[in-house]
Amino acid sequence: MTDSGIRKGLAGVVVDSTAISKVSPETNSLLYRGYPVQELAATQSFEAVAYLLWHGELPDAAQLAGLRAMERAHRVLASEVRAVIDLLPLDAHPMDEVRTAVSVIGASDLSGSGSVLDAAGSPEENLARSIRLFAVLPAIVAYGQRRRRGQELVAPRDDLGYAANFLWMTFGELADPVVVDAFNRSMILYAEHSFNASTFTARVITSTLSDLYSAVVGAIGALKGPLHGGANEAVLHIFDEIGSADRVEGWLDDALANKRKIMGFGHRVYKRGDSRVPTMKAALDTLVAHYDRPEVAELYSALEDGFVARKGIYPNLDYPSGPAYNLIGFDTVTFTPLFIASRVTGWTAHVMEQLGANSLIRPLSAYDGVPERHVAGYVAGADELSTADRAEEQA
Ligand code: COA
Repeated sequence: MTDSGIRKGLAGVVVDSTAISKVSPETNSLLYRGYPVQELAATQSFEAVAYLLWHGELPDAAQLAGLRAMERAHRVLASEVRAVIDLLPLDAHPMDEVRTAVSVIGASDLSGSGSVLDAAGSPEENLARSIRLFAVLPAIVAYGQRRRRGQELVAPRDDLGYAANFLWMTFGELADPVVVDAFNRSMILYAEHSFNASTFTARVITSTLSDLYSAVVGAIGALKGPLHGGANEAVLHIFDEIGSADRVEGWLDDALANKRKIMGFGHRVYKRGDSRVPTMKAALDTLVAHYDRPEVAELYSALEDGFVARKGIYPNLDYPSGPAYNLIGFDTVTFTPLFIASRVTGWTAHVMEQLGANSLIRPLSAYDGVPERHVAGYVAGADELSTADRAEEQA
């Protein structure tokens, strides 16, 4: 806290309550609607966890079947969305690509829907919008990667669950169940994390009674930054830079001497380790074994051990997920869009919660600019220029 009582970055400030998730750094735990995230990752499909986040309870068989049917019905990339994506340069960042696609979906979906006074929508409309976004985001992310590789769009398969279909649409082949399981776990772990920067952004936008799509577009913008979602991508750049476990110590000497931030380590809330890391690290280990890539695990451990020993700062979820996504075959630039596909469930749950008990989010600021001053020659009420004179002056 500064002398004037300001908490920079809102650190430590509780701005509202939420029933969606609970982060407890002291016990290293993360609960979604009361359930430990590790238990959900070990037992549930991502579709079931999405249902839990939106409705507050895990689905029974009929409810899960209902959500799955809706999800499967909305997987196809609409031609107007594809056409806009195709207009973007191939070297546009995929985060910008996905942000643009969601904007197009929103504009199409909300066209003719009335005035901005109705933008926020009803709970039923917002749940349907949430499911539609959840269903189509894999197509957007998968097509983005394929487009950059010069490959054709792959149509979704109705006989596959969310995670298996996502991998199918990205790679055009059926993924091994080990890979599907690791990917499903990562989607669950990324889904929700209370008032992180992107979720808070979504809530701020929602608090103005704007629409759900605008909230998601804003959240994507916040997620893009390397201090938030962009870190999983940055971890892979660091792995590429280091190369192998035996080079870690020398690399760390240089990096710390140059005061570099080591991406994938540290967290605003968790100071003694991120509750999601052990689950994701276990998923990474299954992938390392599946692809027979022990050198990835060696580099992972060497960098973790070296950095924790020197700085006492622990890995966050992006640290194991970066190499896991790399092993699965995703391009590094696709990692943060994968985070969008997962976190859209949490964002939209927060949008609906915010609307359920809304209050415009509008904090105060302490002014520290120049003191009040006046325009030279101005005398209040005496010599104001007429509109015509002012126009002449500015011409
Ligand atoms: N590498 C090197 N030093 C780090 C670090 C990292 N990853 N994370 C924190 N630190 C250091 C800071 O340099 C600072 O040191 P100082 O007090 O000597 O200046 C101290 O630890 C506190 O860091 P700060 O950035 O102020 O803490 P924060 O709570 O605001 O930051 C993060 C949290 C996530 C922004 C920060 O840990 C970070 O930038 N991590 C890397 C990006 C990342 O992985 N983001 C994903 C988060 S899930």
